[in-house]
Amino acid sequence: MFDLEKLVRKSVKKLDPYSCARDDYKGREGIFLDANENPFGALNRYPDPYQNELKLAISRIKGVPAEKIFLGNGSDEIIDLCFRVFCTPDKDKALTFSPSYGMYQVSAAVNDVKMLTLPLNEKYQIDIKSVLPRLSDKNLKLIFICTPNNPTGNCMDRSALEKIISRFNGIVLADEAYIDFADESSLKESLDKYPNLIVMQTFSKAYGMASVRVGMAFAAPEIIRYFNKMKPPYNISTVNQHAVLRRIANKSYFTGQVRKIRSERMRVTAELNRLSVVKKIWPSDANFLLVEVKDADAVYNYLVDNKIIVRNRNSVAKNCLRITIGTKKENDILINALKRIKK
Ligand SMILES: Cc1ncc(COP(=O)(O)O)c(C=O)c1O
Repeated sequence: MFDLEKLVRKSVKKLDPYSCARDDYKGREGIFLDANENPFGALNRYPDPYQNELKLAISRIKGVPAEKIFLGNGSDEIIDLCFRVFCTPDKDKALTFSPSYGMYQVSAAVNDVKMLTLPLNEKYQIDIKSVLPRLSDKNLKLIFICTPNNPTGNCMDRSALEKIISRFNGIVLADEAYIDFADESSLKESLDKYPNLIVMQTFSKAYGMASVRVGMAFAAPEIIRYFNKMKPPYNISTVNQHAVLRRIANKSYFTGQVRKIRSERMRVTAELNRLSVVKKIWPSDANFLLVEVKDADAVYNYLVDNKIIVRNRNSVAKNCLRITIGTKKENDILINALKRIKK
């Protein structure tokens, strides 16, 4: 059975977190002489450490109660926190799939946690038979599942996902960075069913705010409390909290961009499929395409020479380039450049 208290690293349970001025006095009115701030100017005050106003706004758009929301300095902070809360260095393990988002592996290494990597099958889906025997490993604490997956673009099969979540006594993090571009619904609807599930989303992709660094984790309040205990007190700046609040208020900006990117994804797929240099385009639920070409290194270098930068994924997916969907004009430049490649 899943038991959060057994899972959390001992030192984290004992940890006395830093208590900042805003933890001691939570009111908003008064003369504030408690945080050694400069009394002058507009950016002189420390941010709200728990981002309460922003969480309420996110709660409204995502339909998740504020106490089930954690905000990180990008999703990458949330990935790192998972290792720091749940894994004892040089002892515990995590598991992910390949090819997938590289940061899980890097974050594991930074935290001195062994990462097991299972290959996705020929359709870039989870091979459930290879996962199930691993779930009983006592030192396996975390499983990272990226859906839609980067760099393959596809959503993971829902029944395989739910099998893993329901049979594993550790934490499953479903990374839904690209979910707003997908037809599939979010796993956050299943949070009440699975106390060991963390669903991660971000403002970096569909909301077009990669520079502000705000990632979201949706999970049981007990998990959120451990994240809050471990995070640096002021992990999201006031400027960035306000920027996200403004973007959320403008719903049509978000829906319009997602619509445009999805429709360009369809158009670019159709155009690229006509080109002889393209061997295969993997179906995408994200804002990028995984495109197999005859010689990825050569095509990559040719595009760079033409000042078009895509991601060469040859090292993880043979002869594949990961191409982000840009504006119509940018996509046309890419398509025309690829058209000029001789057979
Ligand atoms: C699958 C996936 N998760 C998370 C991230 C990082 O998101 P953030 O900008 O919120 O750190 C990326 C960035 O490319 C990604 O591809």
